[in-house]
Amino acid sequence: MTQGQDEISGSAIVARRARLRKLIQIGSFAAAMASSVVAIGSFASAETKDENVSPIYGVTIPQGYRKWELIAPAVEAAPLNEIRSVLGNDIAIKAYQDGTLPFPDGTVLVKLAWKHVPSPEFGPASIPGAATTVQVMVKDSKKYAATGGWGFGRFINGKPVDEAQHQTCFACHQAGVKDHDFVFTRWAP
Ligand code: HEC
Repeated sequence: MTQGQDEISGSAIVARRARLRKLIQIGSFAAAMASSVVAIGSFASAETKDENVSPIYGVTIPQGYRKWELIAPAVEAAPLNEIRSVLGNDIAIKAYQDGTLPFPDGTVLVKLAWKHVPSPEFGPASIPGAATTVQVMVKDSKKYAATGGWGFGRFINGKPVDEAQHQTCFACHQAGVKDHDFVFTRWAP
């Protein structure tokens, strides 16, 4: 190799290093931008958290749930004296109809509850009185691996109840129905 060629390849290396430095600079700028976007994102979700998202699980009341299909009603004796209706999204309804267990990711179950009161027009009939809770179970086998794949949310007047109440959900569902993917409600024909 001659001296001249050496110089040429030497300056090519210098140029390449300069390009590399530039790329690294662009790269770290992009990374900085990305992390500030992430920071803005988590700030926004922290804000919704306080308002409408259940503690521990981060579950919300799903939009449009009131028009979902009925899986089954239930009645709870004193002291709660409630009428309940469990509804499911399309994934839930299909899983019930096909007998799929465990329920697939994306399954959402909503339980509505009201005090039962005698009908003012016909005494023997019990009808829904004041709404009490809306409860939600969301299936995401990765996100909620520690609780059988289910995230839980209990809401009163649209707002989540405290963390202590959310600590009770999985234990009772696990004790009662671990062989039915932690879901009590069976399809009402
Ligand atoms: C002491 C037991 C117990 C606890 C604690 C409990 N549940 Fe349940 N849950 C039930 C029973 C029993 C049903 C069946 C329907 C009914 O009787 O109302 C049910 C039904 C549900 C359903 C409808 C799907 C299904 O499994 O049938 C949802 C959604 C739900 N519960 C959410 C919650 C949430 C959220 C919490 C915690 C805030 C919670 N549950 C705590 C006993 C419990």
